[in-house]
Amino acid sequence: MEIRFEQTKTPKAKPTDESKLGFGHIFTDHMFVMNYDAGQGWHDARIVPYGEISLSPASMCLHYGQEIFEGLKAYRTADGTVQLFRPDENYKRMNNSADRMVIPKIDEEFMIEATKKLISIEKDWVPHTDGASLYIRPFIIATDPYVGVKPADHYLFFIILSPSGPYYSTGLDPVKIYVEQKYVRAVRGGTGFAKTAANYAISLKGQDEAHNQDYEQVLWLDGVEQKYIEEVGSMNIFFVIDGEVITPELTGSVLPGITRKSALDVCKAKGIKATERRITIQEVAEAYDAGKLDEVFGTGTAAVISPVGHLKWGDKVMTINDNKIGPISQMLYDTMTGIQWGKIEDTFGWTVKID
Ligand code: COI
Repeated sequence: MEIRFEQTKTPKAKPTDESKLGFGHIFTDHMFVMNYDAGQGWHDARIVPYGEISLSPASMCLHYGQEIFEGLKAYRTADGTVQLFRPDENYKRMNNSADRMVIPKIDEEFMIEATKKLISIEKDWVPHTDGASLYIRPFIIATDPYVGVKPADHYLFFIILSPSGPYYSTGLDPVKIYVEQKYVRAVRGGTGFAKTAANYAISLKGQDEAHNQDYEQVLWLDGVEQKYIEEVGSMNIFFVIDGEVITPELTGSVLPGITRKSALDVCKAKGIKATERRITIQEVAEAYDAGKLDEVFGTGTAAVISPVGHLKWGDKVMTINDNKIGPISQMLYDTMTGIQWGKIEDTFGWTVKID
């Protein structure tokens, strides 16, 4: 499909101080848009000036949350090349989310091509500073003006771009996480594995209560017994117990993170034992009491590798590795960011260059 291009007549000033980007506040000059209409399929692919959109107040996405999204990044390497990290994995996951939310799928190759074309137009917006990148947010919304509950017949697909720094204001300093015991994020048969707005909306109450106790995020337990560890919501979670790296297995209620998958691959390539299995919060607390909980860290596109310094479960506060980043977290951070920013050789073949 051809991608039409309409250039902005009012380009914005680019951020001058890249140390103050924050995460997800600034948007570039252009966005990708494409329509879906039942009977016609996806059509009218275009890159147009970034700006407000007009929607009927009755649009179905606004009422019943028929929406999916993705998150990936473009990185600028030292020689000025701009590259993506495993975009095929993001768009494969987007189609899995589409299937769960009864949204029409889009050809994965085409989504990669659209992303590359948009970024090559917006290349100058890719930050130059270490640790900063261009966050890419593809998403699909249901637009039928109808307040009955059914899968929509009309959709819009967008890709917007945001030059961003670290997701957590703490950067690589350990985050404080609180184990959620009252609310749940996902249940078996639900939407936990999909990247859809509902999973994030449902997390806000727990997150709000965690913030009130001076914790940054919550760690979700399984929705049935509230025993097994699932994920943080903005990232997957890993534990290093007695030298072994353990992350909850993908049971359908956990997001299949691309950084998660890559971190497991890096551990295996380095000869570190890395296991996906069910793990209870009780087991983690017992490992802590026995002095065997070496490290805890989260993984995510936005979060990269985020060490966890404090884990609070009820009245028990576990201080991990003296609230310092541990050697496996540091190795994973250095390897992942090294590959992403082109500082070390990509022996996995994960990076995709943008012309
Ligand atoms: C990402 O890591 O890209 C995400 O989508 C998480 C989001 C909460 C920022």
